[in-house]
Amino acid sequence: MTFTGEFFAILSCTAMIMLLHCNADPLPPPTDLSYEWLDPFTVNVSWLWQRPSNLPKDCEIMYDFEPNAKPDNRKRIESRNVSWICLTGVTGSQSCTFTIYTVGIKESCLDWKSTSENITIKSPKPQAKVVEDFKCVLDPMGMNCSWIPVYPAYNLTLSYKTYGVTEAVTNSKDCHQYYSSGRRNGCYLELSDEQLFKTYILVDNDIGRSTFEALNTSIVIPSPQLNITQDKYLLNLSWETPKVGDLDCWIYVFNYTECNKPMKSQKTTTNTYSIPYDENCLYEIQSRVETKICLPIRSDLSEVVTYGTNRPRDGTLTVVAIVIPIILCVCVILSCYCFRKHSNILCPIIPDPSAIFKEMMMNGNKDHKTGSLYTPVPEPVEPCKITIAAETSVLQQNS
Ligand SMILES: *[C@@H]1O[C@H](CO)[C@@H](O)[C@H](O)[C@H]1NC(C)=O
Ligand SMILES: *[C@@H]1O[C@H](CO)[C@@H](O)[C@H](O)[C@H]1NC(C)=O
Ligand SMILES: *[C@@H]1O[C@H](CO)[C@@H](O)[C@H](O)[C@H]1NC(C)=O
Ligand SMILES: *[C@@H]1O[C@H](CO)[C@@H](O)[C@H](O)[C@H]1NC(C)=O
Ligand SMILES: *[C@@H]1O[C@H](CO)[C@@H](O)[C@H](O)[C@H]1NC(C)=O
Ligand SMILES: *[C@@H]1O[C@H](CO)[C@@H](O)[C@H](O)[C@H]1NC(C)=O
Ligand SMILES: *[C@@H]1O[C@H](CO)[C@@H](O)[C@H](O)[C@H]1NC(C)=O
Ligand SMILES: *[C@@H]1O[C@H](CO)[C@@H](O)[C@H](O)[C@H]1NC(C)=O
Ligand SMILES: *[C@@H]1O[C@H](CO)[C@@H](O)[C@H](O)[C@H]1NC(C)=O
Repeated sequence: MTFTGEFFAILSCTAMIMLLHCNADPLPPPTDLSYEWLDPFTVNVSWLWQRPSNLPKDCEIMYDFEPNAKPDNRKRIESRNVSWICLTGVTGSQSCTFTIYTVGIKESCLDWKSTSENITIKSPKPQAKVVEDFKCVLDPMGMNCSWIPVYPAYNLTLSYKTYGVTEAVTNSKDCHQYYSSGRRNGCYLELSDEQLFKTYILVDNDIGRSTFEALNTSIVIPSPQLNITQDKYLLNLSWETPKVGDLDCWIYVFNYTECNKPMKSQKTTTNTYSIPYDENCLYEIQSRVETKICLPIRSDLSEVVTYGTNRPRDGTLTVVAIVIPIILCVCVILSCYCFRKHSNILCPIIPDPSAIFKEMMMNGNKDHKTGSLYTPVPEPVEPCKITIAAETSVLQQNS
């Protein structure tokens, strides 16, 4: 009798210990997960949960869910259904998974956690990559989105859904302002300022569809208008603040070249900036604006804006002042050398000025005495032989 009493005491004790030790056991996971697409972006997942009879009466539970098996995105809810955004991505290949746990939230079962239950969400239509290079340009009225169609032969429709800052959901809308320019097709989405930043896009044709967040592709804004004013030795640069939402976290990034020096890059968080100005230089400036702090929005790089002109500088003058005399010198020396070498051709005798002077002095006196007087040239004198022919003949005859 006492044996059975003791036995039961031990048994119930062991049961108690086991119960306390194996916390997870009495907390089963949700069951019968099912889903329903509310629109191309939103899925409503619901489930059931059976309360085990052995669960302490004061134990209260909630559900933890993780969209796409990302523990970082885990959220806790009380109800047995939840709506969330399930996107298949630009490539249309990603499917969504939904993971859920039951968790204890009160003392007797605080931090108890069930095993997980998963469901894979399938797109209601085949998923496919139907667009390439999708991008949207933001402006004050909305978003001008364009893309290169992967299947140009199939008409494509674009729908979108936006979440405002307040997380208020607007219904999925169809885009109506389609256009085509070159290889690109596009559609203009009219949005209010506060809807701009969470816009989900559906592109759909007979081949398939894909859904993605516009921000994850590339939202560009028009490159900022640059205004340059000169203030003596400064160039004051200023940019128009982009008219996009109420954002005031813009960073202006600009590259510039000064004369032919290497390009410099600068960043400023105010829309004005001054750079030193050299009036002999041409400045070429390209700029863009981005919002790294708040959202990944940026503009393309602007066209090159120029200011000033490249002029000959002091440096050039120095070169002129040194090089030209050197060249001249060399020329003179070379011509002297040439002249000396060929002097016999160019000028038979190089007159020595002192010699010329001496000669002048010495010859001067002689010339004075003799030069002016007439000196008769001695005439050739023939020896005069007078022969008296008659006498001779007479003499000859006599002798
Ligand atoms: C989600 O589905 C559940 C169960 O079908 C339903 O009660 C609930 O209203 C749905 N939620 C939305 C937002 O449609
Ligand atoms: C779905 O959730 C809402 C609250 O989000 C709740 O009012 C409703 O009862 C739930 N439906 C079911 C079937 O659990
Ligand atoms: C649910 O998914 C998680 C993470 O992917 C995995 O660890 C777990 O085993 C899955 N549970 C079931 C019941 O398939
Ligand atoms: C959208 O962009 C295209 C191409 O850049 C342009 O032709 C069109 O006028 C723009 N639409 C609006 C409403 O700004
Ligand atoms: C595509 O749309 C245009 C204009 O909406 C229409 O004229 C054309 O017939 C459509 N083509 C196909 C293949 O549906
Ligand atoms: C953005 O898109 C890339 C590829 O398209 C994907 O890997 C990434 O997870 C997306 N990020 C978000 C936040 O959706
Ligand atoms: C450039 O800025 C100056 C001074 O702020 C202003 O007077 C001028 O109108 C601006 N020019 C342009 C084209 O924005
Ligand atoms: C140019 O910028 C400097 C300092 O950034 C400022 O002191 C000056 O007033 C500006 N000049 C003009 C004409 O805007
Ligand atoms: C010019 O600016 C662009 C964009 O900011 C940057 O990618 C590039 O490296 C810059 N070029 C140089 C030479 O700094």
